[in-house]
Amino acid sequence: MADEQQIRDRYASAGQSHVFDYYDSLNVDEKEKLLSQLDEIQVERLDSLLKSALEQESAGTSDADIKPFGGPVGRTTDEKLVADCSKVGMEAIAKGQVAALVLAGGQGTRLGYDGPKGMYDIGLPSKKSLFQLMAERIKRLETLAGDNNVIVPFYIMTSPLNHAETEKFWESHNYFGLGKENVSFFSQGMLPCMKDDGKIIMETAGEVAMAPDGNGGIYPSMVSSGALADMEKRGVKYLHVFSIDNALIKPADPVFMGYCINQGSDCGNKVCWKVDAAESVGVVATRSGKPCIVEYSEISKEMAESVDEDGRLVYGAGNICNHFYTIAFIKDKIIPNLGNLYHIARKKIKYYDGEKKETITPSANTGLKLETFIFDVFPFSENMAVLDVDRSMEFAPVKNKPGSPADSPDTARELISAMSKTFVTAAGGKLTGDESGICEVSPLTSYSGEGMEEIVQGRKIICPFSL
Ligand code: UD1
Repeated sequence: MADEQQIRDRYASAGQSHVFDYYDSLNVDEKEKLLSQLDEIQVERLDSLLKSALEQESAGTSDADIKPFGGPVGRTTDEKLVADCSKVGMEAIAKGQVAALVLAGGQGTRLGYDGPKGMYDIGLPSKKSLFQLMAERIKRLETLAGDNNVIVPFYIMTSPLNHAETEKFWESHNYFGLGKENVSFFSQGMLPCMKDDGKIIMETAGEVAMAPDGNGGIYPSMVSSGALADMEKRGVKYLHVFSIDNALIKPADPVFMGYCINQGSDCGNKVCWKVDAAESVGVVATRSGKPCIVEYSEISKEMAESVDEDGRLVYGAGNICNHFYTIAFIKDKIIPNLGNLYHIARKKIKYYDGEKKETITPSANTGLKLETFIFDVFPFSENMAVLDVDRSMEFAPVKNKPGSPADSPDTARELISAMSKTFVTAAGGKLTGDESGICEVSPLTSYSGEGMEEIVQGRKIICPFSL
């Protein structure tokens, strides 16, 4: 660590010497802690990051440059496409060319859960956490792809706020059978919160207010943590990245992987078509000819409502945070071009009041944090592909508190139960008993409905069941 004077000099030349305002009131340990925090922050970068984010904010957005996505859009309603892609995806998995990565750096604030979201139990009879559901699906896929030697390496992006707890959880569950050597954890970065004038906010006398840099923090941290190098070393060519909160996620989905591989795409997005024009999700489109996600607030009502000759919404490819990349694309296009992709998020950032000598939570958004989104790199793609999937089988977001009418643990549980019942009936089983009870097919039994015939065909299955 640099010495106190060197750190003071760095902050003084960046116009941030106020971070030392209460330094003399701290005890030896607190001083040490603050110096170590300040030493790690790249204070020299902040000014230019903020400037470009403020410029972007004041430029605003216009729908003039926004046009529909013109690239390939596959649909999983096409059975032949699913079969072809699944074969190609499985071959890549069997060759060890596919890795999965979950974005688990966010805070479960909306869910009201005070811990890493992946540890959350949505109330299934098995009590499996979101992490366990993912791990078991990967395990099943490895078995389906071949003998015991197939590995789908799993990377977990945490944040400094939940890294240790996440790692401990996986360790205490023996990595859910995936093997310690095949599960890697790396933390995304954090940036100081600031006021509009760019001054760093102190949360206490001896601590800077910090916030994760958004899920776009994946790219720099994949490099700094060595995760990208590890993928290359293992011979991984394709990466599936997804959010932590989808209870129906199919990690390393062979259909999605195979579809993007077949299209020769550098980047791909799995989407759920919007149910109606008013649904408020970001959609895949182009801006100035480049692929991107546009927020529903960025397009006019008329654009949102426009339909194609099949009556399908033109701006309907709803983003579900489910992305494909070639490793070459990440290395050669994303990393060298990261530049200044940061946006401003105005928040109620707690600050230290030096006169009252206490931390205050403001009632208005008086502070700002800088963040970047994972899809901010879509414009670098030269041949992006979109795969439209069946929402009821692939998207069960767990975002809101139990009891909420949408996107809650309850709705996710119901969706898993409905999918499990579909697996049974599609394989020729007959449901009896109390069909309103929560039913569960373990991911270790079936990844996407395969292998169910031998268990249920021609049999009565009493609900609620666990298979
Ligand atoms: C995200 C998508 C949104 C999509 C929706 C579907 C982004 C930026 N937005 O919104 O377009 O319609 O999912 O459910 O992707 N995360 C981190 N670090 C962070 C912030 C977030 O790892 O600093 C992770 C979260 O843990 C989560 C994922 O990124 O796994 C999505 O982030 P979240 O903030 O939950 O975005 P949404 O509002 O759900």
